Amino acid sequence: MPETIVFPQAPDLRVSRLGFGCASLMRVTSARERLHLLDSAFGQGLRHFDVARMYGLGAVESEVGRFARGRDRDQLTIATKFGIDPARGLQRLGRLQQPARELLNRVPSARQAVKRRSSAAMSSRRYDLAIAQRSFDRSLRELDLDYVDILFIHDPSPGDDIRSAELVAFFEAQRAAGKLRAWGVSQDAHPGLNVVGSLGPSAILQIRETIFDTERTSGPRMTFGVLGAPHELLAARLQSDPGLRHHWSDRLGADPLAGDTLARLLLADALDANPGGTVLFSTIRANRLPVAASVLADPPSLEMLTGFRDLAGARSSAVPA
Ligand SMILES: NC(=O)c1ccc[n+]([C@@H]2O[C@H](COP(=O)([O-])OP(=O)(O)OC[C@H]3O[C@@H](n4cnc5c(N)ncnc54)[C@H](OP(=O)(O)O)[C@@H]3O)[C@@H](O)[C@H]2O)c1
Repeated sequence: MPETIVFPQAPDLRVSRLGFGCASLMRVTSARERLHLLDSAFGQGLRHFDVARMYGLGAVESEVGRFARGRDRDQLTIATKFGIDPARGLQRLGRLQQPARELLNRVPSARQAVKRRSSAAMSSRRYDLAIAQRSFDRSLRELDLDYVDILFIHDPSPGDDIRSAELVAFFEAQRAAGKLRAWGVSQDAHPGLNVVGSLGPSAILQIRETIFDTERTSGPRMTFGVLGAPHELLAARLQSDPGLRHHWSDRLGADPLAGDTLARLLLADALDANPGGTVLFSTIRANRLPVAASVLADPPSLEMLTGFRDLAGARSSAVPA
């Protein structure tokens, strides 16, 4: 059985410690391989699947819904989000995902037009009852499921118009109707922005967190961004500095650039920093799933993890971003 937790904010909901982020799912080019990836994540014990109305230009929800309908619904949890809708033109292109991407890659003017439209749509957002209702109805249709486990406000920023009271009433009504089990906000860290606080004690926080954060949020939460960007940064530094790599190898008792050492350490750090919560992990390669799962079954020693934190922290403050 996979390792699971229960968020105090949602005592009826059991969620796996490692969740699978589906933002990049459509980078896997065939539907068969996408299903295989989701099946493999499930098989490795990642039983929570994180989607959003906007992922894959609107196409990811239906893929994950198809996967979930082939399973015992009680064996997995699904979170989706509202508030960033794929722009209307992008939704149309989403149905032709691969050709659309190829077109955008080939034609710079089309790419610029899409960028302009996206950045206008994303400049300042409103999160209210009408937007939540419309998006959630669409999510349930796309997923083709009776209920969603968690609905998140998607990526609010300072300056956005967030109607917390009417959103909480909406969430409660959806829960009473059996369409939703829990809710919250999914966001980057923004100093001074406390959306989760404005949503009351039932709200779950999903937040970007990395080993470089000097102050991490306390309490059970869902974290994302723990692996990709930090891995790229640390690997680039170690590759460009053999002396540093040697120093790390001495301290860790292992070459940080060998195999999946760095990935395992970053995931172990994230799991250890959020003991009562869930860590999201993402890949488009099924063969990387066992690496992630192995961190729960066979974590690095505390000594190695402590050494890694010292090395990553010291290095990150010494080198400008
Ligand atoms: N504001 C929001 O609400 C928000 C924002 C961002 C993300 N999210 C959610 O969080 C999920 C995870 O986010 P994330 O993209 O930041 O995930 P992540 O797990 O931190 O990073 C994913 C990246 O790590 C790479 N990777 C995976 N295994 C690796 C390994 N063993 N060695 C080296 N690199 C490896 C992947 O490359 P390959 O794919 O090539 O393996 C991918 O590029 C998203 O999918 C989404 O569901 C939410």
